[in-house]
Amino acid sequence: MSLTERGVGMRDQADRLRSLVTGTDTNELAQPISRDTRVISITSGKGGVGKTTLAVNLALAAQMSGLETVIFDADLGLANVDIALGLFPRYNLMHVLQGEKSIKEIICPGPQGVRIIAGGSGWAELANVSQQQLNNFITGLAELDSSADLIIVDTGAGLAHSVLSFLHASSEIIVVTTPEPTAITDAYAVIKLMSQQKDKRIHVVVNRVKNEQDARIVYSKIERTASRFLGTTPSFLGWLPEDSLVTQAIISQQPVLLRCPDSRVAKAIRQLADTLFFSDHADVEPVGVGLRSFFGRLVRFLGG
Ligand SMILES: Nc1ncnc2c1ncn2[C@@H]1O[C@H](COP(=O)(O)OP(=O)(O)OP(=O)(O)O)[C@@H](O)[C@H]1O
Ligand SMILES: [Mg+2]
Repeated sequence: MSLTERGVGMRDQADRLRSLVTGTDTNELAQPISRDTRVISITSGKGGVGKTTLAVNLALAAQMSGLETVIFDADLGLANVDIALGLFPRYNLMHVLQGEKSIKEIICPGPQGVRIIAGGSGWAELANVSQQQLNNFITGLAELDSSADLIIVDTGAGLAHSVLSFLHASSEIIVVTTPEPTAITDAYAVIKLMSQQKDKRIHVVVNRVKNEQDARIVYSKIERTASRFLGTTPSFLGWLPEDSLVTQAIISQQPVLLRCPDSRVAKAIRQLADTLFFSDHADVEPVGVGLRSFFGRLVRFLGG
């Protein structure tokens, strides 16, 4: 089943969530929706472990395999994604919320047709906007829902309220860690918080290792503790090698997947994308798929 075909069965549920959030009948929000968008948030406990690198390159790999992909830069502290891609978005999602711009106007075109949305600061204000503003905003998201297969959200590190709101709102999360003990402990802390939501799919990516064996050693530490204490087991999505090309790519503001497509790290990213989007593993449908459902829940969690 293709990514675009999947999720149709989730529409009723997404509609219910939407009306829960907006307090309106979904008919008032009637917009032609041709498909639901898969939303995957990339996070970590510790900072600097490779979230933005993974988000940008995974998005490119998805786009190059035919999935219409949007990167949402939700790191409210630093403009990570634009720097990684050498872009300068003038507007962000807060301008949409404030009614100054439409979603279409804030989308920044990136390499290979991937699209970028800057989050901007001030997300806490989402909890205080009027019902009308919120309705406009969520209705506006239909434009994206009908044109994107996938949104990759690059969150900040750690357990700040805004980061957790993004994670709570996502039905799928990738937790990035390195072999450093502090990164592993912090990754576990995020997984622990997320494991309270039983419908959530949690994947682990181990970055900056020598080989798959080393990555699996790191993963099994997390997996053992999680299954013992949390009754949940995140899946091992894959690993990325330690490679100085990653740093060089960041300095040149060009994603490594495009700059060095034959490198080990680029191959590992494509492999990860295949597992995530095209393997049997990819076919298990998480609940709450859909961009509007995602933002609807985001608003609720920010307010909560
Ligand atoms: N596989 C890798 N091999 C070598 N260096 C890497 C690798 N992945 C990341 N790095 C290095 O780590 C730095 C941080 O990476 P990145 O910006 O992707 O992390 P982040 O988790 O998004 O950080 P932040 O928490 O600040 O947003 C990069 O500048 C790069 O130098
Ligand atoms: Mg980052």
